[in-house]
Amino acid sequence: MPAPRILVFDSGLGGLTVFREIARAAPAADFVYCADDAAFPYGAWPAEDLVWRVVAVFRRLVADIAPDVAVVACNTASTLVLPHLRAAFPKLPFVGTVPAVKPAAERSRSKMISVLATPGTVARDYTRDLIASFAAHCAVELVGSQHLARLAEDFMHGAAVPDAEIAREIAPCFVRDGDARTDEIVLACTHYPLLLAQFERLAPWPVEWIDPAPAIARRVVQVLADRNSAVRDEVRSLSTHRALFTSGRAPDAALSRMLLTFGLAPVECAPIPVEQKTVA
Ligand code: DGL
Repeated sequence: MPAPRILVFDSGLGGLTVFREIARAAPAADFVYCADDAAFPYGAWPAEDLVWRVVAVFRRLVADIAPDVAVVACNTASTLVLPHLRAAFPKLPFVGTVPAVKPAAERSRSKMISVLATPGTVARDYTRDLIASFAAHCAVELVGSQHLARLAEDFMHGAAVPDAEIAREIAPCFVRDGDARTDEIVLACTHYPLLLAQFERLAPWPVEWIDPAPAIARRVVQVLADRNSAVRDEVRSLSTHRALFTSGRAPDAALSRMLLTFGLAPVECAPIPVEQKTVA
C-alpha cells in the first residue's frame, strides 16, 4: 500500500508546529508542506479576499500534489475558508485548526482564559461561536496580535527577536480580577508555539499555554485510518519531505537549515502570485 500523502498548509512557517506533531504520529506518511508566503500574513486579509486566495492556491496544490488528506494548519484560514474548501474539493478530507477554547475552558480553575490569535481569527463569527458554546461560564479575553506571526517568521529566519516586542504582544492576555487571574492561554495561531520558550520566560506569571497540534495530529491519524491508509509501517528518513513556497523564492540559508531540523527539504515551486484573480 503506498504511503498516504499529507498536505500541510499555512500562510507561512507556523504550520510547521502542526506538521511536526503529525509527522510524529504518522511517520510513514509522505508530507508536502506548503507556505503561502506570497500572501503572508493572512491575519490582515479581508475575509472575502482570503477565501478567494486560499481556494485558488488549493486548486494548484491539489492538482500538483494529489494529497490524500489536507491539513489547514492555520486558524486564520480554517475559521473562515474550510466550508469553501470542502465544497470545492468534495473528495478530499480536510482537517482544520481552530482555537482550542473548549479545553482551555475545561482546564481553567480561575475561569479566566485568553485567546491569543491574529486580528482575523479574533474577528471571526466562528471564534465568537466557539466561545459562546464552550466558554460562556468563563471571562474570555480575545487578543488579536498585530505582530507576533511576523516575529515568529523572523525567528525562523534566524533574526534576533527583541524580548520587549514579544512581551508587549502577549501582555493583554494577562488579566487580573481581584485575587483571580488568567490561568489558560490558547495559542490560536500556529505561529505562536514557535515562540513558546520566549512566552514562558516573559510571562508575568505562569499559565498553561494550549497548543492544539497534538489533537490535530490525532485527528489526521483517525482520518487516515478511516481511509485504511498505512501510517506506521515504515519510518521515513529525515529530509524526505518537501516544503514549497508560493512566492517561488528559495528559502535563505538559515531557513533551509531550520527546515532540515523538521525533516523538510525545500523544492522549487512555480510562483502563485497574489494578484492573480483566476486560477485554472
Ligand atoms: N499561522 C496562522 C494562523 O494559525 C496565521 C498567521 C498569519 O498569516 O497572519 O492563524
